[in-house]
Amino acid sequence: MSENVRTETVTDHRWHTPEEYDEATGRLQQRNAALVARLHPDPDSVRRAYEVGCGTGALTEELAHVLPKARITALDVSDDMLRLARNRGLAPDRVEFRLGSFLEDDHTTDGRNVSAAEDGGYDAVFSNAALHWLHPHYTEGFARIRRLLAPGGLLCAAAAGRTAAADAFDHRIEEATRGVLPNGDGSSFNRRRLTAADVVDLADAAGLAVDDVFVVERRRTLPAPAYATWWVASGGPWSADRPEAHEAVRVLTEALGGARTEVELVHVSTCMVLRRPA
Ligand SMILES: C[S@@+](CC[C@H](N)C(=O)[O-])C[C@H]1O[C@@H](n2cnc3c(N)ncnc32)[C@H](O)[C@@H]1O
Repeated sequence: MSENVRTETVTDHRWHTPEEYDEATGRLQQRNAALVARLHPDPDSVRRAYEVGCGTGALTEELAHVLPKARITALDVSDDMLRLARNRGLAPDRVEFRLGSFLEDDHTTDGRNVSAAEDGGYDAVFSNAALHWLHPHYTEGFARIRRLLAPGGLLCAAAAGRTAAADAFDHRIEEATRGVLPNGDGSSFNRRRLTAADVVDLADAAGLAVDDVFVVERRRTLPAPAYATWWVASGGPWSADRPEAHEAVRVLTEALGGARTEVELVHVSTCMVLRRPA
């Protein structure tokens, strides 16, 4: 993991549209969002919550139900994704969507600059399927999360996880796409993956205690075109140099063996509950 601190705002999301993202990833992300929203052991105690990488708002909607007393600030770097999140019509007096990069954005509940703030004052920070996009700036990202949390506050999150099956799956995609999709090989995603041990190390470096860390592996068999759509829709801010999404789906489908091929998707999440010591 790099110690470098680099800030960037990624706004070019033509790799996928938010509608395609919801269509392709819906069932898996919905299950993970429901899981992450319920990681907090005492939801009634949460008055101020922050969400990193809310996307189209699947987790935000769960949080609005599970945290009835909380004001929720939900951040995403993509205004396209936020457009769909805002369309959910979640309690506007309690839920605020913000556009910005977590690595640049400075938030506290009272508007102070978080990098200068001792205490961001949030009772909990939540995130589903977004923390791995902080790669290679994990050290900075987890330090920011600590600063956002009030003493005793919890990070409840799931990020892309690593298991032997996930590595084998990434390798297969890497082989299938090598030379046919620029910057789109599986390895570029693989290096983002976090093991439970990585999370323990990051928590340690950030001064967070580990209340819980565990890995969830889900498998689903999909026709190659559905898998290709999912892969492209989940691509996120990888690279500016890439084909249009529909072309990437076509190329990847062919590379996997054609439209009649079945692909076993391995979806791994490393889930964590980390605590800022009181
Ligand atoms: C795979 S989506 C997950 C969205 C949502 N949490 C869900 O469960 O469906 C990852 C999201 O993280 C956002 N993201 C990536 N890097 C980010 C950053 N540095 N700051 C804020 N959001 C970021 C992307 O725009 C995208 O919407």
